[in-house]
Amino acid sequence: MSHDLRFDGRVALVTGAGGGLGRAHALLLGKRGCKVVVNDLGGSMHGGGKSSAAADKVVEEIKAAGGEAVANYDSVEEGAKIVQAALDTWGRIDVVVNNAGILRDTSFQKISEEDWDLIYRVHVLGGFRVTRAAWNHMRDAGYGRVIFTASAAGIYGNFGQANYAMAKLGLVGLSNTLALEGRKRGVLVNTIAPIAGSRLTETVLPKELTEALRPEHVSPLVAYLCHESCTDTGGLYEVGGGYFAKLRWERTQGKRFKLGKAIEPEALAASWAEVQSFEKTDHPADIAASMQPVLDNIQSKSKGGNEFIDVDAALGYEFPPLTTAYTERDLAIYALGVGAGTDPLDGKDLQYVYELHGEGFRALPTYAVVPVINSILEHAKQGKQAPGLRYGFERILHGEQYTEVRRPLPAHQKLVHKSSVKDIWDKGKNAVVVIATRTYDEADQELAYNEISMVVRGAGGWGGERGPSGEVNTPPDRAPDAVIEQTISPDQALLYRLSGDWNPLHADPSFAQAFGFPRPILHGLCTFGFAARHVIKAFAGNDARLFKSIRARFAESVFPGETLVTEMWKASDQRIVFRSKVKERDKVAISGAAVELYAEVPKALAAAPKAAPAVAAAPVAAPVATPAAAPAATAAAPDGLTSADIFVAIRDYIERTGDLVGKIATVFQFNLKGPDASWVVDVKNGKGGVTAGTATSDVQLELSDADFLDMTSGKADAQKLYFGGKLKITGNIMASQKLMFLKKVDPQAAMAAIVKARGAPAAASSPAAASAPAAAPAAAPVAAPTPPVAAAKASKTPEIVKALADRIAGTPSLVSEVAAVIQFVIKDPEGSFTVHLSHAPGSVKEGRDAAATTTLTLAEEDLVALAKGASPAALHQHGKLRVDGDPRPAHKLGFLNDLI
Ligand code: NAI
Repeated sequence: MSHDLRFDGRVALVTGAGGGLGRAHALLLGKRGCKVVVNDLGGSMHGGGKSSAAADKVVEEIKAAGGEAVANYDSVEEGAKIVQAALDTWGRIDVVVNNAGILRDTSFQKISEEDWDLIYRVHVLGGFRVTRAAWNHMRDAGYGRVIFTASAAGIYGNFGQANYAMAKLGLVGLSNTLALEGRKRGVLVNTIAPIAGSRLTETVLPKELTEALRPEHVSPLVAYLCHESCTDTGGLYEVGGGYFAKLRWERTQGKRFKLGKAIEPEALAASWAEVQSFEKTDHPADIAASMQPVLDNIQSKSKGGNEFIDVDAALGYEFPPLTTAYTERDLAIYALGVGAGTDPLDGKDLQYVYELHGEGFRALPTYAVVPVINSILEHAKQGKQAPGLRYGFERILHGEQYTEVRRPLPAHQKLVHKSSVKDIWDKGKNAVVVIATRTYDEADQELAYNEISMVVRGAGGWGGERGPSGEVNTPPDRAPDAVIEQTISPDQALLYRLSGDWNPLHADPSFAQAFGFPRPILHGLCTFGFAARHVIKAFAGNDARLFKSIRARFAESVFPGETLVTEMWKASDQRIVFRSKVKERDKVAISGAAVELYAEVPKALAAAPKAAPAVAAAPVAAPVATPAAAPAATAAAPDGLTSADIFVAIRDYIERTGDLVGKIATVFQFNLKGPDASWVVDVKNGKGGVTAGTATSDVQLELSDADFLDMTSGKADAQKLYFGGKLKITGNIMASQKLMFLKKVDPQAAMAAIVKARGAPAAASSPAAASAPAAAPAAAPVAAPTPPVAAAKASKTPEIVKALADRIAGTPSLVSEVAAVIQFVIKDPEGSFTVHLSHAPGSVKEGRDAAATTTLTLAEEDLVALAKGASPAALHQHGKLRVDGDPRPAHKLGFLNDLI
């Protein structure tokens, strides 16, 4: 093997090279063309005696291998003589390996002056003298490599080695300094902390280990560090047994006390965890880096404080993150709490309180502050406070609020709130503490940002910074662009407190009186919610999704029963300045206020969070739609339909309806009782399917087998079953709404599937087959894949048109009742017909008609539903019935009821 790292022309001096590590270093250097002074006193491992044999032997070995070497028998304490040997022989010195060493191990209580001194003299003084003698030669030559040999005992300490540890770590300090002093002159200095089997370790290490840890495993590091190609200096390396690693210092972020006031030991004790914590660290590599935090600290003066507030301790404090969750229920209660839905017929307002709203449920964005304030209240209740904030909650008033949402709040969500003390201002008599909170959703995306400014009464006056002052969002000197007046219901505070602020000041008359109020006052954040709603209504078409942010100052208490007048000025397309007044007292309750709007609705994140909401709350409304599978009603129904039959029909429908999985994206687990059976309706994975048994599911429904049959045949109402406690729903309760898709199951196709399945052989492993009555062989085939039933879908529109013609002919009064020409455009399969009820005699004709004043567009299955008595309003709300033209006739579709 050719050796690229060679030392031809170089002269090295290795102390203590008569044995152990020194010998291995000397042999390796000699082998690679280096001329070597092999120094060794030849004494005992405890420092006694002297002999030339050891050094001579190694010289012979180097020579035998073709190298050049001379022996030296001086003690390292006579370092100059050893260096002189190199100069005398070869006229130069390039490499110094300080390796000689002895041990005088003893516990500290027994250690003698001699033990201490001898160790110091061989390791430290010897290392110093040898290196000192060589130093100027190397500096003058502009080239040198120096190695010191330290030890883990010095770095980490070792029982019984106080003297040795002292000496070894002393060498690290020496090496670090020489590295700095030598660098510019090409003299590089490094330290190794080796482990190897030698006479020093054979008494402490097991024999096998002594043999395995060969000195030759250490020498490559020495050779490389001493080679001209290695330019590293000031390093400390752990090495042995084939392992090579560098060490460095790591420092905790530490605790910084602002100067300007006494640092008490108690304060340090209180911050001890910070001093100790390695969570955030740095790695100072030189004195400058070591000093930096100290220099930084002496420059930053204390921001002061008093017995209530220690600004230095509190400012910037990050509270532990808090997790909360909300559902549609929380949002609806909040919306009611801030006065939404007082007109239940206002469709837009209804969206904030009715989770089944046809145009979608919407969250009021100011809800974003509710979990944050609740968390702060919860903290306070538990006596938790940021360090340095030492006032009681009785001193606090909610002064200002800023709330911003990054995008519309989802209908339910698990949240993580990260709060910190953002600002502390000294307002003279009072102090203001601003808590900033960033709220993240389940996908770890920031959803909302809140700043809660709290006035701490009587806690100011330390001469600190006053913070921003002056009026913000001052209304312009002209009439408002919009005004909304709303009477606050006398029970509004009682309703609002259900969102989590239980302070009796808002409910208990005697408590309120004790605080100087004639009666309970409204929560400031309740007024805030009212005002935000007013702006959304006046400038965003009551579309809360366009809301971006709100800033408001709480200027005056409001009493439930009073009238709130919100005056609004359009400062720009996206910015509305406003104030809210109490009409009866002509007092401004909210001032310095503005709402910012988004120009368009911000997009929801692409990666939707996992389906299940964080907390299972009671569902707000009917959880399960009555599926219209209803095969029992058809003539071809086999006797004694079982639940398993129904699942056959469902499976059949899923298989035949291609795009269901993407739309529904839910796994339903049905657990039926008496007889017990479990079924998984998977409309989420792959192509979806229905299997007997249990699986990981989004929503679980538990009910009796009989109720299941009644529910699916339309005899029992799912909502009633639920509220009657007969249908239990767990998991993502809202997802149970998605069972609505079962309404589309065509009874004839379902029956065809059931008949077909009944003809198939039963599989013994099916739980349903095992528990269902023997006469019902239906369960098994559901679990086994069967070929899809042919989806030949005959149009039912002609049948309906025919029945309608009969009805119109038999009911002349329809003309005066409806008084319109209504055109029906049918999809899937395509079709159309027009109902002429504008003048007698009424009629119905296939095809469209330009005379129609109203056009209704809907799928045939929804037309069938209408003909069976479904509500047109419900279809419209769910986006299934489109009305163009004059909408009034759409409210008079009763003539379609019970047609088939
Ligand atoms: P070793 O005892 O085999 O070699 C040390 C050599 O230094 C001996 O040949 C000895 O005669 C010589 N020596 C002692 N005093 C001297 C003096 N005043 N002047 C000149 N030569 C002298 O021991 P080993 O293990 O090879 O040790 C080499 C170096 O490595 C020592 O500094 C030791 O402290 C250090 N070390 C060794 C470790 C190991 O696991 N072997 C662990 C940590 C450090």
